[in-house]
Amino acid sequence: MRKPIIAGNWKMHKTTAQARELACGLAAELVDYKWAEVVLVPPATAIATVAGAVAGTKLAVGGQNLFWEEEGAYTGEISPGMLQELGCAYVIIGHSERRGYFHETDEDVARKARAALDHGLSPIICVGETLAQREENKVEEVIGAQVKAALAKVSPEEAAKVVIAYEPIWAIGTGRSSSAEDAQQVIGFIRRTASEVLGEKQAAELRIQYGGSVKPENIHQYMAQSDIDGALVGGASLSTQQFSSLLRAAIVEEK
Ligand code: 13P
Repeated sequence: MRKPIIAGNWKMHKTTAQARELACGLAAELVDYKWAEVVLVPPATAIATVAGAVAGTKLAVGGQNLFWEEEGAYTGEISPGMLQELGCAYVIIGHSERRGYFHETDEDVARKARAALDHGLSPIICVGETLAQREENKVEEVIGAQVKAALAKVSPEEAAKVVIAYEPIWAIGTGRSSSAEDAQQVIGFIRRTASEVLGEKQAAELRIQYGGSVKPENIHQYMAQSDIDGALVGGASLSTQQFSSLLRAAIVEEK
């Protein structure tokens, strides 16, 4: 049984004061919420504040990125151990904004996923195609290569600790979400690809999220799909009211 996992990626939003307000609001709103594992992913400057605000609750905290070295002369970077010390259990790796704006490669993603696991952090590894790639019918080619590369340094025993987020780039922040059926199709393909790398039993333990314009109004249709285990949410995770209604709307009883 895969426990659903819904993460709010705050991206470069929220000062520490705003982050505290949002985290405290969600902690209060979600006291009795058990259906999915909920992960708050604030900017690095607010991780400690958010971790403090949710300490003793079921809400988990994640980082948005890391560098694979433990320490050294890497100005501006954050090590896996530093994230872990602040109370992170998760870290997003290879978000399309990092691949696009900051030129992260598949090889970087594999090294970061390895470093996360080595420090007891669960990586949330992002994959996704551009609109041009989708229109050229290259979705499986692109996603297959990203998944194989990202899992290259992951051992089969670690599958249950890994989360993959399928985020079609054309759906991020655009309000143009993938249909639930299309998302299921690609996510089913991701699970089949993972089974080639990790084995069938292990791939069945891997949790795979959909991300891209997920809102309270559409979350349920994704969660009703057999291979979709959760969501990576951007804009709709930035307000207590929206994110908590999204989490409640997500509930599918038989999962
Ligand atoms: P939106 O939910 O704002 O489309 O962002 C998705 C995303 O990139 C989450 O990582």
